[in-house]
Amino acid sequence: MNKLIEDLNWRYATKSFDSSKSIDDETLNTLKEAVRLTASSYGLQPYEVFIIQDKDLRQKLKSASFNQSQITDSDYLVVFAVNTVIDEAYLDRYIKNIAETREIDVEDLSGMRNAIAGTVLQFPQDQKLNWAKQQAYIGLGNLLASAARLRVDACPMEGFDNKQYDEILNLEAKNLTSAVIATIGYRSEDDSLQNAKKVRKSNEEFFNHL
Ligand SMILES: Cc1cc2nc3c(=O)[nH]c(=O)nc-3n(C[C@H](O)[C@H](O)[C@H](O)COP(=O)(O)O)c2cc1C
Repeated sequence: MNKLIEDLNWRYATKSFDSSKSIDDETLNTLKEAVRLTASSYGLQPYEVFIIQDKDLRQKLKSASFNQSQITDSDYLVVFAVNTVIDEAYLDRYIKNIAETREIDVEDLSGMRNAIAGTVLQFPQDQKLNWAKQQAYIGLGNLLASAARLRVDACPMEGFDNKQYDEILNLEAKNLTSAVIATIGYRSEDDSLQNAKKVRKSNEEFFNHL
């Protein structure tokens, strides 16, 4: 079996973490960089990532996550929170970033600016939020695959109360709202799920070659 498939079979949605084990700084930084490098529509990265280790804060968030033990037993809770205000000013900041990073004139980016202003910026707020969440999920996928490669365990999670998270993390004031979360750390030896066979659609059901 090749290494990539081996890594992806190694990973599983970890229910029980060994709270005595912690991720070293270099590994955490690598995971952060992998998520930061994630592709996004137009490159707009319409989300921020919160990496939460604080025990008290995680205890509060656990109550807002159906008391799932991963929230406090893992090493870090990662919250993907999407931008709720994606407007002209947001777009201008992005265009400025491209111009500075690539050392080009803002004027030379007017075509791109117009393309974004004519599409994403025109979406009704609901659609904008959905679009932003889709981008955040790509970040989540990249986190899961990267963690597997580094042999870090993770549990992706939608089982949390978005409103409570927003309140606890004071996200509204930052024009953000929680979209999806993950816990990362190291699996407990007692987590029987690590030995469970992967349940997936068959190749025939899943893939369509045309
Ligand atoms: C977006 C998303 C949300 C999920 N939410 C939860 C959750 O709240 N709690 C949980 O224990 N597992 C959650 N899972 C884990 C899935 O149940 C798990 O990934 C799926 O059953 C496939 O198993 P595997 O990841 O172990 O291969 C979630 C997975 C994804 C991708």
